[in-house]
Amino acid sequence: MTNTSARLGLPNLGLGLGLRSQHFPYLLQNDPMVDWFEIISENFMDNFGYARDVLERIASRSPIVMHGVSLSIGSSDPLNQHYLNSLKELADFINPVWISDHLCWTGINHTNTHDLLPMPLTQASLEHAIGRVQQVQDFLQRPLVLENPSTYLEFESSTITEWDFLSTLADRSGCGLLLDVNNVYVSATNHGYDPQQYIRELAHHHVVQIHLAGPTDCGHMLIDTHDQPVPTPVWQLYKLAQELTGGVSTLLEWDANIPDFPDLVAELHKAKAVLKGELPQVAITSSGEEAISNPVDFHLAAIHD
Ligand SMILES: [Fe+2]
Repeated sequence: MTNTSARLGLPNLGLGLGLRSQHFPYLLQNDPMVDWFEIISENFMDNFGYARDVLERIASRSPIVMHGVSLSIGSSDPLNQHYLNSLKELADFINPVWISDHLCWTGINHTNTHDLLPMPLTQASLEHAIGRVQQVQDFLQRPLVLENPSTYLEFESSTITEWDFLSTLADRSGCGLLLDVNNVYVSATNHGYDPQQYIRELAHHHVVQIHLAGPTDCGHMLIDTHDQPVPTPVWQLYKLAQELTGGVSTLLEWDANIPDFPDLVAELHKAKAVLKGELPQVAITSSGEEAISNPVDFHLAAIHD
């Protein structure tokens, strides 16, 4: 059931791809064959050269969504006002349909780890995140959309499931949700919970967008590599999510070993067949590493090394 008012009034843009510099020459000379583009905000912030010029030209013919990786909404550092100023400058310039980032923290003591780190999911961290989202939305003068991250460890102090945390965060802050079904699959596999339960229990009326991607099986855990075709289990979760949301904007992420643009379009357009019940039979790519008995213990050991 579609509920566009609860979804912040944001439209279903259809099927989109990430705008990557490797594809600039192609896109300046060819029909993009997709409905919309998502940009990594940081690639265009404080950048007033060729990339900004290409973005402006592409934005003149296709809707653009801004997707950030450095907001650090979960950190206990103060919000980075320089970052927010640059984000708002870009938003005012390109007029995106919405702005998204991740439920995570990326650093502490003003040090950026350039990683999307998991949060402890507690009532205290929820209240912290709600306040921070409201601050960002007040500054940007528009709703924020937050994505569920891929995670490789959980905190023993967590008392709230991720789907309940995100649902309450959206209820109370007014933000939208970006449901990355690949991230759900990666985290659920790594932590041993049911990905379908996650998607069934998330507040569907807050979901504005879906991400698709392909992970890599590294033996001891799945890693969100964004460099593989979407595997069958992720397509199954996508179909379920689209049934439950009533249909929302869909974007395929591919960020390493990036294929030619028409090949990405072909991968993205498999989503049309999936919604008709035709699931591509694609195995999860393996890195060739051997499995170990307890992936969480392994990862914690790796962190302490
Ligand atoms: Fe994602």
